[in-house]
Amino acid sequence: MTLDVICFGALNMDRLYKVDRLAGADEESIILDFRETPGGSAANTAVGLARLGVKVGYIGKVAEDRDGKLLLKSFIDEGVDVGGIIISKTGRSGAVLGFVDQKGNRALYLDPGVNDTLEFGEINLEYIKGAKILHLTSFAGERPFKAQKNLLENLPPEIKVTLDPGAIYARRGLLDLRPIIKKCYALLPSEGELRLLTSEEDYRRGAENLLREDVKIVAVKLGEKGCYITNGLESHLLEPFRVKVVDTTGAGDAFCAGFIYGLLKGKSLRECGILGNFVASRCLTKMGARDGLPRLADLPSSLR
Ligand SMILES: Nc1ncnc2c1ncn2[C@@H]1O[C@H](COP(=O)(O)OP(=O)(O)OP(=O)(O)O)[C@@H](O)[C@H]1O
Ligand SMILES: [Mg+2]
Repeated sequence: MTLDVICFGALNMDRLYKVDRLAGADEESIILDFRETPGGSAANTAVGLARLGVKVGYIGKVAEDRDGKLLLKSFIDEGVDVGGIIISKTGRSGAVLGFVDQKGNRALYLDPGVNDTLEFGEINLEYIKGAKILHLTSFAGERPFKAQKNLLENLPPEIKVTLDPGAIYARRGLLDLRPIIKKCYALLPSEGELRLLTSEEDYRRGAENLLREDVKIVAVKLGEKGCYITNGLESHLLEPFRVKVVDTTGAGDAFCAGFIYGLLKGKSLRECGILGNFVASRCLTKMGARDGLPRLADLPSSLR
C-alpha cells in the first residue's frame, strides 16, 4: 500500500495530573484526577488525517513497554499505518507528565525516552516511497534532529515537506533550523513560534522572512484570531470558526491535519487555511488532542 502522507515526530504518552496546587521545591501537593492519552504533535496530526480518510503512516520510535504498545494500538485503532515505527528492545517510550492546578496553571515534564535514540540508519527509506507529503514535528534530542536533516537530504524531490516547528524547534532559531527549513514546502508555526524563529514581532514580516528561505507557503496559527496564510503572491487572514472552547490541547496539531488535507486534495491556499481552522475548531470542543477530530463526513461539503 502506498501512503499519501507520512508524519515524523516524537511519540509520547501524555499523563495529565490535576492537582490542588503546583508543588515547588520541597513542597508536596495532592493529585485530584488523572488522565492518560497517547500523544505527540505529529501523532495527533496523523490521527486527524486518518479520520479524514487519508492514507497516512508514521516514522517514530517506541520501546517494547506498556506505553509503546498503547501508542501503537492507538494508531492501529485509528487507521494510521505503523509499518514505519521503530520498536526499541531497550529503554522506555517517551512520556509527558503534566500537572495542572485548579486555575489551569500547568507544569510539564518531558521524558523523551527512546525518541532521543532514533537515528537516520533506522529509517526504512522504502516506507516513504510514493508518499506525497512528509510532515515533520520536533524532537527534543540532537540525534533525531540529525536523522530528520539526513532524511531530507535523501528525499525524492517530488515529496513535499511540511513542518510544524513547535516551541522546541522554533527556539533553535533560523540558523540552526535552516537545513530543514530550506527543504520545506510549507511551514506551520504558531504566532509565538514564528516570533522565536525569526525574531520578527509582526507575523507578516516573520512569514516574509521564511518565504525568503525558499519556503513556498507559510501558515501562521493565530489562536483565537484564526490563521494567516501566505505564499508571497496571495495572503489571507482567515477568521476562526466560533465554537464553545472546552480544551485547546492539540488545536495546533488539528490545524495541521486540516491544512495538509487541503494541500493533498489540491485545494486553494484560502481553502487550506479554512480547513485548518475548521479541523482545529472541532478539536477545541472536546477534552484532549484527539477526541474532537472530525471525520470526512463532518467537513462542510464545500470543503471536502
Ligand atoms: N478560541 C478559539 N476559537 C476558535 N478557533 C481557535 C481558538 N483558539 C485556537 N483556534 C484554532 O486553533 C488553531 C491553532 O491554535 P493555536 O494558534 O493556539 O495553535 P498552537 O499554539 O500550535 O496550539 P498547540 O498548543 O495545540 O500546539 C488556530 O489557528 C485556530 O484555527
Ligand atoms: Mg503547536
